[in-house]
Amino acid sequence: MTGQWTSRSRAKITALGTYVPQKVLSNDDLEKLVDTSNEWIVQRTGVRERRIAADDEFTSDLCIKAIEDMLRRYPISLHDVDLILVASITPDHTFPSVASIIQDHFDIPATAALDISAACAGFVSALQLADGMITSGMHKKVLVLGGETLSKVTDYSDRSTCILFGDGAGAVLVEHANDGAFIRSSSVTCGKAGIHLYRSGLSPRIANQPIAANGYIVQNGKEVFKLAVNTLVREIPALLNASGHALADVDWFVPHSANLRIVEAVCEKLHFPFERTLFSAEYYGNTSSASIPLAIRMGLDRGAIRQGDTLLLAGFGGGFVYASTLLRWTV
Ligand code: UT7
Repeated sequence: MTGQWTSRSRAKITALGTYVPQKVLSNDDLEKLVDTSNEWIVQRTGVRERRIAADDEFTSDLCIKAIEDMLRRYPISLHDVDLILVASITPDHTFPSVASIIQDHFDIPATAALDISAACAGFVSALQLADGMITSGMHKKVLVLGGETLSKVTDYSDRSTCILFGDGAGAVLVEHANDGAFIRSSSVTCGKAGIHLYRSGLSPRIANQPIAANGYIVQNGKEVFKLAVNTLVREIPALLNASGHALADVDWFVPHSANLRIVEAVCEKLHFPFERTLFSAEYYGNTSSASIPLAIRMGLDRGAIRQGDTLLLAGFGGGFVYASTLLRWTV
């Protein structure tokens, strides 16, 4: 499946909030759990620390705190939100959805609420849906979240995965606006590659091949690395060309923060200056659908992103799925 469109957007982001749990899991801590070293992890992934949810803290709790952060920072109301979209591969339950839990917590009176599953492309996919729903006239005010408690599905005896993942959440409000800020979006899926990165659910097979049905994240790191780099290097120029933009027009490239080496390889191949990328995994690890809002928050906090800047967001991950959006920053 592949798709690309210009939405003549009638939507823009009006607020952003984030949250990460208190507990820090450092590379030194991991040295005590598996046969690894701080040097190896930093050199191969760029990750130094990750945040870990408490035993009784779940994805909905992290999302609620990200929304509370957003409410503290901006003069907004959730009362008239009419769609809640939560991107997560670690929802509290299969159902009820995290979105339903959020509706109840904030007592939002008249809203649709659903979770979407697009792994590390989840946040960008949810943003694309929000833009599409608002631009079509179906919804006016959409609460979009990317939230994960990946530590609960990480095998801390598997050194090839436990070094990567962490927990966190990000929330944005997307509202109807005549000066819509979503410039162009694209998405592409390669279902054949699903076997390379998964967490088992009900079936013990993917594409007729047996899988480890242990409920933990399983990945073929090398294949995921190659898929990620090749997809980004192919799809980003296609999106920019189709929108009449060049890489030089992008103020900030915000790819999913999976692994610093992936981002470096993509920048090198595209001749894009690495200094204009935002990356959240150094201190938060790979937080899947939360990694892009966390990176944007970091960019805002250090005064890097300014209103009117052009951002290129690109999510990619288990599926294998990819979703990117070029937008004007309006917060
Ligand atoms: O959101 C998407 C999520 N997934 C990703 O982004 C994953 C993308 N892939 C990666 O990040 C990298 O493939 C990894 C970081 C997972 C692994 O790095 P690599 O450079 O591809 O290492 P490798 O799998 O080729 O392994 C090289 C060596 C192996 O030892 P031998 O066979 O050469 O003796 C591994 O056993 O490194 C060993 N190794 C480790 N050594 C120390 C694997 N994990 C570790 C470790 N510490 N944590």
